[in-house]
Formats: sequence, C-alpha cells, structure tokens
Amino acid sequence: MPSINLTPLLPISADTSPQGILTIANQDLDLLADQYGTPLYLYDAATIRYQVNTLNRLLEQVYPGESLVAYAAKAYFSEGLSHKLAAMGLGIDVVSLGELELALRGGFPPGAIHLHGNNKSEAELSAALQINAQAIVVDNLDELYWLENLASRRRDNHKARIWLRVTPTVQGHTHAHIDTSGANSKFGLHIENGQAAAAIRYARASAWLDLAGLHTHLGSQLFDPHTYREAIHQLYQLAQSEHFQPQEFSPGGGWGVRYTANDPDDNYALWLGAVCAAVVEECARLGWPLPRLVLEPGRSLVGRAGVALYRVGAQKTTPSGLRLIAVDGGLADNPRHALYQARYTALAVRQANPGATSQARLVGKFCESGDVLIPEVLLPQVERGDLILVPVAGAYQLSMSSNYNLAPRPAVLWLAENGVELLQKREVPNQSGWWMLP
Ligand SMILES: Cc1ncc(COP(=O)(O)O)c(C=O)c1O
Repeated sequence: MPSINLTPLLPISADTSPQGILTIANQDLDLLADQYGTPLYLYDAATIRYQVNTLNRLLEQVYPGESLVAYAAKAYFSEGLSHKLAAMGLGIDVVSLGELELALRGGFPPGAIHLHGNNKSEAELSAALQINAQAIVVDNLDELYWLENLASRRRDNHKARIWLRVTPTVQGHTHAHIDTSGANSKFGLHIENGQAAAAIRYARASAWLDLAGLHTHLGSQLFDPHTYREAIHQLYQLAQSEHFQPQEFSPGGGWGVRYTANDPDDNYALWLGAVCAAVVEECARLGWPLPRLVLEPGRSLVGRAGVALYRVGAQKTTPSGLRLIAVDGGLADNPRHALYQARYTALAVRQANPGATSQARLVGKFCESGDVLIPEVLLPQVERGDLILVPVAGAYQLSMSSNYNLAPRPAVLWLAENGVELLQKREVPNQSGWWMLP
C-alpha cells in the first residue's frame, strides 16, 4: 500500500506495486489519464459501497426504529452517479430542478426524494409538489405561506408533505462559510426568535400542509458528536413545547472527512452513535414513538471515493526558495482552497512510496494568485507530464467547479471491479465558445 499515512485518505481499492506505482481498482491511472485527458476525476465504486454499507449496518445496530440514508446530491451529482446511488437503495436530498431531474432519471422513487433550499423557486416547489416528493423542507415562514398558497391551488387535493428546517443555537466548529447553525444563518427557522414554533403551529393548522417532520443541518466538515446531541435536544424541546410528535426526523449531514493525515477521526460510529442515542433518549424521555430517522451525508459518503488526477506542467523556485509545481487544473475544478482554505495532500502516481521528498506548493493554471491547490505538500522530484493525484476529491469540487478561463470541466470515471464507466464526459466547446457536454 502507499506511504502509511496516506492510506486512510485513498479509495479502499488503491494499491501500490513494488515499483511504487499507484493503481485504483487495478486500473493503470496513466492510461486512463491519456485516454480521458487531465484533469480527470475518478470515483471508486468499492469505497462508496463500503460507506453505504457501513452506515446501514451501524443504523441497524444502534437505531431501533426505521431509517433512511439520503445522499446530499450537492456534494457531487451526475446522471451516471444518480443511477449508481439509486440502485444502492438510498434516498436523496436535492436543492434544485437540475438535481431533482437527475434523481428521477437515475431511478430514485419520489417518496425517497426531499427538496431543500433557502430560496426555492416556484418551479422547484411545483415540481416537488407534482411528484409528491417525500418532503419539501420548508426553510422560512415566507416560504411556508407561499407553499401553502401553491398547494391550495392544486387540483388533486394532495396536501404538501413538509418538514421544517429548524436552526438551533449551537456552534458548528467549522469554517464560517460552511457553518449553517449560527444566530445569523440564512438557513432555517430559528428556535431563538420563536419562528420555528410559529411555523409548527401554522403548518399543523393548515388544510394544505402535512407537517411530517423536523430537520436541522448544522454545517459541514463537523467532527464533534456533541454538537449533534445538543441540537437534537433543542429540536425535541421545541417539539415538546408544541406537543408535536415528528413522524420523521433528520439531523442532516455534515459529518467530516479526513483530507490530511492530521485531521481528526472521521469514524461514522462516532456520529451515528451520538445521533441515534440522542433521538432514542429524547423519545424515551417524552414517551413518544421513534421517528423515521433520515440522514443526509454528502461529503462523508463520496469524499474519499473520489480522486483528482493532474499532469505536472511548469515548475519554478521563487526568490524566497519556494518550490512551485503547476498542474493542468486548479481553481476551476476545485475552488475549495480558494473558498475556505481547505487542506489537502497529494502524491505522485508513479512514486507513491517516494524515498526523498521536499516541500512544494501545488498551484493551478488559472489567472488568479489564489489558484493554489495545496500551499504546502511533500512531493518527490517530478517531471513535466508526471501524474499527481489529490485524494479525497469526491465532494464539493466538481459540484462547485466553473469554466473559469473557459476551461472545460473534466471527465469523471466510475472504477469498479468489472471495469471503467464514464460518469460524465469531458466538456467540449460549442460554436459560440461555451463549453458543453458532448
Ligand atoms: C441541508 C443539508 N443537508 C446535508 C448536507 C450535506 O452535508 P455534508 O456534505 O457535509 O454531509 C448539506 C450541505 O450543505 C445541507 O445543506
């Protein structure tokens, strides 16, 4: 296997030959890079399956009620991945018409699809109403009144099945840009100012709304299970004060993943142990039946499964002695460092067990000084054309990618025991200069 500290960051099918050449699912990565171009993104089927199975097994062990794992599509989604995940029996959390459409095309049943968003459009709400989605997760009072109005105009007399997104007063302990639980968060109905309680009362009294559950999502890249426990306690106190027993309860997603060997333990058991114990304890305290528990992992389900491959281009040393290695991607396919100083590591695919390494900065090819992939990383001597792999590239990279400098979005491959499948083609230019999927 690759150098000892990187193994837990790589897909589980990664292996290193005695010559130090890294493979994933037994595939020659240089051949794939030649065939599909770089940057190239790979998703390891075995890792995703392992994550899904681990979640389901843990839920069976620690939650005595019904449960559903619903993938947060925003982490990365494409029609190809939609088919794969639907076949694994997951539910899905979507936030746009595009994600909803791909979920349906992939085969997710409407009853396993829920719609999020702090400012949903009429088209998005209407589409969710029309398919009778599992739930529309109402984010604010304004949306609650508007949705009721839209539901009242339906001809089929179906009530809108909703959850309320509730914002408790807990501290997410993550980067401010991915903390959704603060007092000034744009997301959710705050408990503190009485809006969450008002929404429960309003929804229950409405002839057009069917209040089925409560939801909260505290932020992303969280490692402290106590944050979840506290939030769940606050949501159940709210429910108790309104005498509302939720049929469904979702503590969101947000569990962190390790991007570098120094990151904390990302074991699912810590997260699920805390979440399930909290829900079970609250229901026991109140004498209420257990709700159907709906988890919404995004990053933790697909983060480690994905890797990004780049080819080395120009290299230089700055006057201060900084070793710069430029690769053929960067900010356009992965804006996470520029957005919130996300940390990564990297390795050279043909020197996965290097003898000698030195500190380098991995930069992209785009016209921004902030186009840095990794400010400090230990790498061996590399040459133009060598393949660099960035692990834990499966979440919030391609889904936040852009065509900056009119760069095409990369191809995405699914690597399984039975071979390679194209999940997403590399973009090509159309006549007006814009990029499109061929
Ligand atoms: C409502 C909601 N659920 C789930 C997620 C998934 O979070 P993560 O990918 O950190 O698990 C997000 C991410 O922003 C979210 O907003």
